[in-house]
Amino acid sequence: MREVAKTSGIRLLTAAAMSAVIFLGLVLQAQADDRRATIGDSAPIARQTKEGASLFRANCSPCHGLNARGGGRGPDLTSGRWPHGATDAAIYRTISQGIPGTEMPANNFEDSETQAIVAYLRSLRPSSESVSVGDRIRGEGIFVGKGACSGCHMVRGKGGALGPDLSRVGAARSESYLIDSIREPSRELSLGMIDPNNPYGNVLVYDTVTVMARTGQRITGIAKNEDTFSIQLLDTSQQLHLLLKKDLESVTHERKSLMPVYTEQVLNDAELQDLIAYLESLRGRQ
Ligand code: HEC
Ligand code: HEC
Repeated sequence: MREVAKTSGIRLLTAAAMSAVIFLGLVLQAQADDRRATIGDSAPIARQTKEGASLFRANCSPCHGLNARGGGRGPDLTSGRWPHGATDAAIYRTISQGIPGTEMPANNFEDSETQAIVAYLRSLRPSSESVSVGDRIRGEGIFVGKGACSGCHMVRGKGGALGPDLSRVGAARSESYLIDSIREPSRELSLGMIDPNNPYGNVLVYDTVTVMARTGQRITGIAKNEDTFSIQLLDTSQQLHLLLKKDLESVTHERKSLMPVYTEQVLNDAELQDLIAYLESLRGRQ
């Protein structure tokens, strides 16, 4: 009995000694933390960047890609180019107010959260592969020549209207999105015009639409506007038809692109690179 009491007494003593050591350690650690904080500690900044990274992953990476390198519908944010303003204040404003007329939405974050996202974006190194290897001038030649892209796409007021205007596509999209647009156009359809006078209107998708009129006439094209009663259809020869739905047998959204698939047989990889270099150079007026 005594033996047991003695050993447990010793155990109690050692336990007390150990807690004292741990306590002392904690105090010293806290003092060290204090000292580091007062001489400009980087820990709070690291914490802010980390919070920004997780907010970014949840809210922004569906469009801007993992690590902000682009990928979905949004541009690479690590390229060092900021057409919408490069200062912290400008980036803050872009995040909170969005960019009207584009797919970049406004956001409702706390002040500190927006700051954390800006800090995160600032912490990223430019990706080395963000510079396209193609030749922009040759790319422009393919765009208006062999590729016949300008038949459907407007650049600086010249070209067709079946596809979206590409005058700013280099600022708006990532390289991987541009490549997909050419090799697999139906994979991610572009969104249509957002009517500036009707911000709550339906956003049209640029898919192929086929209508059958009651007269038996059949028209395929792109819907430039559509509501419950009518549809404006730009057909493949770029004639605009204003149609009332009561005159139509059916309106079919095919959920696929009107743009042809440009396979490697049509445009080889070198030509694709040239085209991408040209598209990336289209950044609108600056
Ligand atoms: C629905 C897609 C989408 C989402 C979600 C989105 N963005 Fe964007 N963002 C875009 C597009 C598209 C652009 C390019 C607009 C343009 O110039 O045409 C853009 C542009 C930007 C720019 C301007 C870059 C420059 O070129 O100056 C910043 C900064 C930005 N986004 C940050 C964010 C952040 C941070 C989030 C998350 C809080 C976010 N975006 C969420 C689509 C998106
Ligand atoms: C027959 C018409 C037609 C031709 C020819 C055509 N396109 Fe398109 N393009 C479209 C349509 C329609 C869309 C929208 C649907 C979609 O996302 O594919 C589109 C979408 C795009 C987009 C995505 C734009 C965005 O911001 O989402 C890019 C980039 C593009 N085309 C580039 C090209 C290039 C480069 C060529 C030539 C090699 C080309 N297109 C030839 C009709 C065309």
